[in-house]
Amino acid sequence: MYGKATAITSPNIALIKYWGNRDERLMLPNNSSISMTLGDELTTKTKVIFDSKQDKDQFYINGKLQDLSDKETMERFAVINKIRSIAGTNAKVLISSENSFPTSAGLASSASGIAAMVLASTKALDLKLDSRELSIIAKVGSGSACRSLFGGFVKWERGQKADGTDSYARQIAGHEHWPELVDIVAVVSDSKKKVSSRAGMRQTVKSSLLYKARPEWAENMCVKLEDAILKKDFGTLAEITMKDSSNLHAVMLDTYPSLMYLNDTSKEIMYKIAELNESEGKPVAAYTFDAGANANIITRKGDADKVMEMLSQVASIKEIRKTGIGKGPRFIEES
Ligand code: DP6
Repeated sequence: MYGKATAITSPNIALIKYWGNRDERLMLPNNSSISMTLGDELTTKTKVIFDSKQDKDQFYINGKLQDLSDKETMERFAVINKIRSIAGTNAKVLISSENSFPTSAGLASSASGIAAMVLASTKALDLKLDSRELSIIAKVGSGSACRSLFGGFVKWERGQKADGTDSYARQIAGHEHWPELVDIVAVVSDSKKKVSSRAGMRQTVKSSLLYKARPEWAENMCVKLEDAILKKDFGTLAEITMKDSSNLHAVMLDTYPSLMYLNDTSKEIMYKIAELNESEGKPVAAYTFDAGANANIITRKGDADKVMEMLSQVASIKEIRKTGIGKGPRFIEES
């Protein structure tokens, strides 16, 4: 058998973060999360070819052959085995994935990478799966990947059931709902993070006392944030986004051994945004940090220049990328 497809996806930035599971095997989170899919300035293109004439699987990221016996790579590659078993094939696969942004530096390359891998693989094998089924497969490779299966604003539902059938991603609103929103990515570090998200969150759940308060709080914030998104209430979105980022990094610090992803430049950006909001008399920008030092700053088109000007004063920022809300995945034909 032979089948191929190429998918393009974008990373998503969580405004309410996923951090910790109630069931690790099924990847069922302790709290729901909400994200915004980024625009075409940041993309992952993944080409997948299943070919029963090949004798081994091969997986390339940015042209570099990955070691499929590496634990982390194996965890991500589990989605391919899952998809093969649904399709009833054992054909070997060649995957080639290219990111237009730094890999593994807290810019959610795993999210867009796994989402593209799932979409291209299921298309190559001609599987007709709905978005709920796709999101259940994607989160096994990377939790946040299920949110990159859609454009616009996306909620990954925590769900209640033990079998996980009610924990999946759904779109809250498409990219056209709030086109004024801008995401500015300030690349502070392009080196690979020391502790992976999966290992870090496992440690937090096990050891942090502060974390015990997080799931319920985050669940309530998701309800408020969804409402703010639907009403295009930027002030509420900004406040919730910054509070959730700080809550996450507080429980990371409270983890034993401590997880510290932010660096001095990240903190300088936090101070600068706080100053800008203070001088404007209302929130005009919101920072958020994943498991890395890089900042995502959410603002509106009319305020983006002020934010860019403010960031230009932070000398240690390596690179700035501006993007908007993305339309979500698409397929392309390739020879
Ligand atoms: C801080 O989804 O990257 O970015 O399942 O190990 O791949 P794995 O974890 P991942 O964790 C994301 C953590 C986060 C918050 C978020 O994106 O919700």
